[in-house]
Amino acid sequence: MRLVILPNSDDVAEFACDLFAQQLTNKPKSVLGLATGSSPTTLYQKMISRQKAGDLSFSQATSFNLDEYVGLSGDHPQSYRHFMNEQLFNHVDIDLARTFVPNGVADNPNDECKRYEELIALAGGIDLQLLGIGINGHIGFNEPLSSLSSRTRVKTLTKSTIEANSRFFGDDERQPTDSMTMGIGTILDARQVVLLATGAHKAQAIKGCVEGPVSASCPASALQLHEHAIVVVDEAAAAELTMKDYAIWAETRHQAMEQM
Ligand code: GLP
Repeated sequence: MRLVILPNSDDVAEFACDLFAQQLTNKPKSVLGLATGSSPTTLYQKMISRQKAGDLSFSQATSFNLDEYVGLSGDHPQSYRHFMNEQLFNHVDIDLARTFVPNGVADNPNDECKRYEELIALAGGIDLQLLGIGINGHIGFNEPLSSLSSRTRVKTLTKSTIEANSRFFGDDERQPTDSMTMGIGTILDARQVVLLATGAHKAQAIKGCVEGPVSASCPASALQLHEHAIVVVDEAAAAELTMKDYAIWAETRHQAMEQM
């Protein structure tokens, strides 16, 4: 696992933007795995600016989002499809027809999850998967106890996740309690994975992800099994890490060797 500790959240977004830009330059037809939540929003703003400046193009790319709420249609303001359209897709040169998010109002959610897995396989698999992390260590909506080999499926949310995400819903708005999410096995199949976390409230989850035992109790710890996983955090999210000094030193060595 490559652990990159940067001074602040803007640096984290800039680092991730460089990764995506590199990916799209090396392979314009990349299949990108995208995420929602507050963690990727600065990254998406940077992607928009770079695309408008002509330094980045999504014109041949395909994207798959991690998850969606069961019961919310794509035009619902709290749906992840709506989030992605607003935060990224409507502002860049991506072909909307090649952006995929599970359909939250599919007649049969289980069939929809199977279809989603098939679509990913048909597209050739995910080249670069973006992740945030929940305060309980979830990735996508893979809550603690999720099988480490799970595939896209319906997953019931924990009380803590419902509470954490309640800030996006109005008092009189019904907040879904179930989701469709890529599984941990689906995520681990991506050729490269990058997880972003900023802020002190993520420090415990990041410790579990990076230094904890590989365990279904902290789904993000499954990234320890991935050959090409990069965890990019700010100082606050790195605060609980025992190996922090080593990680900073190892990263300077990594960059020096890249320049050789
Ligand atoms: C939601 C999403 C996750 C995201 C997490 C953390 O539960 N399903 O993909 O990583 O929230 O969100 P935030 O970045 O807002 O802390």
